[in-house]
Amino acid sequence: MSQDPQTDTSHSHATRAAARVALVTCADLPELDPDDRALLPALAALGIAAEPAIWDAGDVDWAGYDLVVVRDTWDYAKRREQFLRWARSVPRLANPAAVIEWNTDKRYLRELAAAGIPVVPTTWVEPGDAFVPEGRGEIVVKPAVSAGSIDTGRYDLMTQAPAAAAHVRRLQEDGRVVMIQPYLDAVDTAGETALLFIDGAFSHAIRKGAILTGPYEEGGLLYQNENISAREPSAQEHALAARVLAALPGGAGTLLYTRVDLLPSPDGPVVIEVELTEPSLFFGFADGSADRFAAAVARRLT
Ligand SMILES: Nc1ncnc2c1ncn2[C@@H]1O[C@H](COP(=O)(O)OP(=O)(O)O)[C@@H](O)[C@H]1O
Ligand SMILES: [Mg+2]
Repeated sequence: MSQDPQTDTSHSHATRAAARVALVTCADLPELDPDDRALLPALAALGIAAEPAIWDAGDVDWAGYDLVVVRDTWDYAKRREQFLRWARSVPRLANPAAVIEWNTDKRYLRELAAAGIPVVPTTWVEPGDAFVPEGRGEIVVKPAVSAGSIDTGRYDLMTQAPAAAAHVRRLQEDGRVVMIQPYLDAVDTAGETALLFIDGAFSHAIRKGAILTGPYEEGGLLYQNENISAREPSAQEHALAARVLAALPGGAGTLLYTRVDLLPSPDGPVVIEVELTEPSLFFGFADGSADRFAAAVARRLT
C-alpha cells in the first residue's frame, strides 16, 4: 500500500471524515448542562466530533449528523407536540422518537402498574375533571408532562387544600393532565434513587435529596437545584429497575440511555418515573461513565 499521503486514499483516520454527533440541548443551556460537557472529551477520544445543538433553533441540519443524542431539552413540557414533531423529523435520533413520545407523558406509569410494577399511587385528573382534595396527610400535585420538578407542589391537606385545588385548576386551565400522589416522606431521609443504564446495562446510580418543600410558587426556573451524591442501590432497587427495563416497549436493549427513578415507600421501593428522554446522567458521580456512554454512541455509528 502506498505511504504517499497524496495517493493514499485508504482508510487512515486522517483522511476519513470524523463522525459528527449532535448533543441536543435547549436555548437556555446553549453549551449543555455542565455534567454533559464531560461527553465532549470522551467522544473526541474516540475520534467523534460532537457539538451542542439547540432543538428548536430552526437552522440546524439534523440530517447532516451521524447521530443526534437528546440531552438537555428541558423546556419542552409546555409544548410537547412541537417537541415530538421535531423528534420525528430527525433521521437518526437517540433515544428514538417513538420512545420519546411514549416517555414524555407520565401516563406510561399506568402501563407499568398494569404490568404489576409498583409505582407511586397516582390519581389522574384530566382537564375537564372535577377535583376536590380530600383525606389527610400531604399530597403532591404535578403535571403528567413535566421535567425538572417545574409546576410541582406539595400540600398539607389540613391547611393547604385550597392551594392544592388552585394548583390543579391552574394546570387544567392550561389543558394539562394532572397527577395527584401521596407525599412519600421517606424521601426526606433516604432520598430518591436513580439507576442509570447504558445500552440496557447498569452503569451507575445516584441519590437525590428531597426536592419539594411546599406549595408551588410561580418562579420561572428551568429546573430545581438538586442535592446529588453517588449511591449503591439496594438489591431490591436493582431488582425493581430490572423489571422496569423488561417492561419497556421494545425492551431496554435498544435504548442508548435509561434512567429509572425510585422513591422509598413503606412497602419498599416504587417507581416515580422512567427517564428515556432528557435525563441528567450524572457522569460526574461515576468514574468511567462518560466513556461508557461515548463507547455506546460509537457502536451506533458503524
Ligand atoms: N409522590 C411524591 N412523594 C415525594 N416526593 C415527590 C413525589 N412526587 C415528586 N416528588 C419530588 O418532586 C421531584 C420531581 O418529581 P418527578 O415526578 O420526578 O417529576 P420531574 O419529571 O419534574 O422530575 C422528585 O424528584 C421528588 O423529590
Ligand atoms: Mg424526576
